[in-house]
Amino acid sequence: MTPKVTTVPKADAERAATLRDELHRYNHAYHVLDDPLIPDAEYDRLFAELQRLEQAHASLKTIDSPTNRVGAPPLESFHQVKHRLPMLSLGNAFSEEELQAWHERLQGRLGDDENLIACSAEPKLDGLAVSLTYKDGVFVQGATRGDGFTGEDITTNLRTLAALPLRLQEHGAPAGQNSAGKNTKGKIQIPELLEVRGEVFMHKAAFTALNESQEASGQKVFANPRNAAAGSLRLLDSSITASRNLSIFIYALGEMSDDVASPAEHSAVLDWLQQLGFPVCDQRALCNGPQQCFSYYLSVQSQRQQLPYEIDGVVFKVNELALQQQLGFVSRAPRWAIAQKFPAEEAVTVLQSVDFQIGRTGALTPVARLEPVAVGGVTVSNATLHNMDEIERKDIRINDTVVVRRAGDVIPEIARVLLERREAKVEGGKRARRYKIKMPDTCPVCGSAVEQSADEAVARCTGGMSCIAQRKESIKHFASRRAMDIDGLGDKLVEQLMDEGLIDRVEELFGMSATALEALPRMGKKKVANLLQALEKAKATTLARFIFALGIREVGETGAANLATHFSDLARLRAAGIEELEAVPDIGPVVARSIVDYFSNQDYSTSVDALLEAGITWPVEQPQQSESDKPLSGHVYVLTGTLSHMKRDEAKQMLLAKGAKVTGSVSAKTTALIAGDAAGSKLEKAEKLGVAIMDEEQMRDLLGLS
Ligand code: IVH
Repeated sequence: MTPKVTTVPKADAERAATLRDELHRYNHAYHVLDDPLIPDAEYDRLFAELQRLEQAHASLKTIDSPTNRVGAPPLESFHQVKHRLPMLSLGNAFSEEELQAWHERLQGRLGDDENLIACSAEPKLDGLAVSLTYKDGVFVQGATRGDGFTGEDITTNLRTLAALPLRLQEHGAPAGQNSAGKNTKGKIQIPELLEVRGEVFMHKAAFTALNESQEASGQKVFANPRNAAAGSLRLLDSSITASRNLSIFIYALGEMSDDVASPAEHSAVLDWLQQLGFPVCDQRALCNGPQQCFSYYLSVQSQRQQLPYEIDGVVFKVNELALQQQLGFVSRAPRWAIAQKFPAEEAVTVLQSVDFQIGRTGALTPVARLEPVAVGGVTVSNATLHNMDEIERKDIRINDTVVVRRAGDVIPEIARVLLERREAKVEGGKRARRYKIKMPDTCPVCGSAVEQSADEAVARCTGGMSCIAQRKESIKHFASRRAMDIDGLGDKLVEQLMDEGLIDRVEELFGMSATALEALPRMGKKKVANLLQALEKAKATTLARFIFALGIREVGETGAANLATHFSDLARLRAAGIEELEAVPDIGPVVARSIVDYFSNQDYSTSVDALLEAGITWPVEQPQQSESDKPLSGHVYVLTGTLSHMKRDEAKQMLLAKGAKVTGSVSAKTTALIAGDAAGSKLEKAEKLGVAIMDEEQMRDLLGLS
């Protein structure tokens, strides 16, 4: 009997091969280069076409097919994989001195204390180490680190990572000009066996989105992006891994066959791997000696918050591979590499009590009073608890042992409760009782009733202007840099002025006498003169700033600017009804209601009149220009990062004047994101959504400034 042979039509086989090639290229451009070549819908169409061909002819499905990225049938368990070369750990340096000492030890071992040692410097990515094996350029196996000698086979899960090349090919550099390989044919050569190591991690934005959806569907929320990445990578069902948006950066070479020569320096190895299509972190640098290494550490530390992924330090590696060989290993860590970790951002302490702070719109924010603890180099004794929902979600109770987290200059918060400590019996002593945290019925400052409407997460003091806490906060806001920008009138001074009874309401700021001010403690003649001058100067403002300074609930900077452009006159704004307000860009029914409520409140209205009476003015804007004067009407921009020629606010005003809409967050409707220096999550989101990105120069062109 002859076996039944199904032949695949040649045209189908060729089409499938072409589709695989194209999809690999588009995928690499999108996920590794951040530079999409075709619209998403077109990618999806080609992907579906390949899927159809593979379904029709099973033999067309190769192990490097892009269709493998959607995941495979669930596994029973993971197989063990023995690493060809052990996966090592790294020694740590915790200070500049320790880094210096490391360099000196290396110089000693190499018998050369004249020359500085060149190091490849890279961020230390906070994820999980993996090893990837390629045979003839095709990804065949991926493994976890495990105990360093044996890991688990997570190939199918790793195949779902969009940035992981399923097949290697030359990218980017002109043929024959790369630093590696015997370039016999002028093309980069791919070794028969290539093993690389890297870190799998989850972007901060993907982590937030994952937790939101986990919570919405009543599933486990992850403590941090690292845990989320770990949890997602060790799933037996790779189709779930596929949905988790994991990322990867390659940071080292593992084993490699000798048919191709690898570069002689680690930095060149990374460049070469990048050319082969691997995602490699762009933050890397070459540093000579301890001082340059330490400056790199400081500079990465200062960018840490803006990076779209989490890092926990930097890694320095002796750049010359021959020197690495010479230096070798001690126990399980190489002598030629060291990690310099950032100070811990989490610490364990006890929640002693909870107070409620009143914001300018009356919102009650629970604040944790903690047993003081050092976190990331500073002592923390207070942390925000955000709102009651957050407390409930994390099940935080007074006397609980909690993990406090402080990242950069962000307000410290309680990351989680150590529940095992709640249950633990204290030996020989009594265990402190845990108390549930309750929202007070009345405002702790003014005693007015506290109310929470069904559609809001926050509860508010109903005292309005009669609550001194609300007045204090609104005056602080009024004086702040982005509002009236009253130089020298910071939060502390506002507190002092109110506590000493010099002012009671915002308008009284402009009626303070030098004599009364000079009578205050810590207020010299010079300081008083400066303050009065700053108040005088601040009176000349813009309508947008003034509206923002009023602190109307729900009206932020962008809303205020949009209102100013639309009404160009305060009287018109004050008289506007809900319907007219809703016609303003970005103003919806909730904001419109809040504006109407504000101006119809007698207390607030009196203040506004008195402020105008005190001499606050702004240039009268031209009423709505004709469409031809507004070349940017219908365009929506988002500004992010630091601009070098002007403040963001100025740029915003200029864009608005040309008819553009300026919003605070990137969406599919955004025309372009204008990204200054140190742009962070918005840039990432724009890239994800395929929204155009402009730099400052391009924006200046748009505004006719250059
Ligand atoms: S090199 C022999 N480079 O840090 C050197 N490791 O303790 C091997 N890591 O689990 C590591 N970013 O996964 C290296 N740029 C980087 C890294 C990095 C993160 C992790 C690695 C390992 C741990 C070492």
